[in-house]
Amino acid sequence: MLTEITEIQNQALQEISQCEKSEQILEIEKKYIGKQGALADILKNIKNLDVEAKKTIGQKANISKHEIQNALINKRRELENKELLEQLKAEKIDVTLPSQKPNNATINALSAIQKQAEEIFEKMGFAIADGPHVESELYNFDSLNFKTHHPARDIQDTFFIDKEANPEHGKLVLRTHTSPVQVRSMLKMGAPLKIIIPGRVYRNEDQDATHEHTFYQIEGLLIDENIGIGHLKAVLEEFLSQLFNTKIETKFRPGYFPFTEPSLELDMSCVFCKKQGCKICKHTGFIELLGCGMVHPNVLKASNIDPNQHQGFAFGMGLDRILMLKHGFASVCDLRANDLRILKQL
Ligand code: PHE
Repeated sequence: MLTEITEIQNQALQEISQCEKSEQILEIEKKYIGKQGALADILKNIKNLDVEAKKTIGQKANISKHEIQNALINKRRELENKELLEQLKAEKIDVTLPSQKPNNATINALSAIQKQAEEIFEKMGFAIADGPHVESELYNFDSLNFKTHHPARDIQDTFFIDKEANPEHGKLVLRTHTSPVQVRSMLKMGAPLKIIIPGRVYRNEDQDATHEHTFYQIEGLLIDENIGIGHLKAVLEEFLSQLFNTKIETKFRPGYFPFTEPSLELDMSCVFCKKQGCKICKHTGFIELLGCGMVHPNVLKASNIDPNQHQGFAFGMGLDRILMLKHGFASVCDLRANDLRILKQL
């Protein structure tokens, strides 16, 4: 029996030393020293032996069991360490690899250019004025010298609010331009006055590549004594040169607005070809930019300002137009298409 025990021990130790997976350890343990294992199998017959032999065999069996147990413990530890190391190796991260950048949100391109324009005008001493988007006919048209049946009222296709007209202020409309804030500001602050009015305006228009029912304008108004068209030209050329980071020339064409006299259209030298002529400026070297003029005496009167003492200029431009020119877009719709490829270029 002793040799049998030694044999079992040797066999067990050999199997343990050859074992390569920690999961197999339990099986080996069961096979040799478990309740129904090889060692237990042999010891079943011990009861037939005499006392002395029982003792010797019992001792030998205990020693062998311990040997096997120790070998199992050591092997399990060794295998588990090895397996952990392999797992760590497989999971290792190269911390020197560039990380994935999160998609940060940025300021909307229109808001950004509005802020840029505001900063330039603020440096020139203009304050920023604001007014309601739901406006009365009085401010949107009448006080701006649009006569009740003047055909000019039809120039602007207007969203009317479905509510009864007020006897003095007329119907409510979504403001079709930022110009009503001219009158509101003059009534509130009087002359002299130097303001810009950035903001959203609305027109009852079908949407296409160059038209939107909702868009943004920046209006300017300067009221003082002895103001002339030269001041208007100087302010706008300075503004445009700062905005486009290059010297911009401007030229006037005759225009028509009920609230300015004379009324003018201002073209700026083409930023794309430097007046050489290109597709964007239709080979003229100049791009149509904005409407402007000297404030009409009737508008000054409606704003409680004496036209004999004060006069001034006003201008109004579409923010989308400036943004398109700055970034070379073909259509305003590009800006609102929610196309990240376009928005990321801004
Ligand atoms: N309000 C005019 C428009 O919306 C622009 C303008 C403003 C023209 C001020 C002259 C003076 O078209």
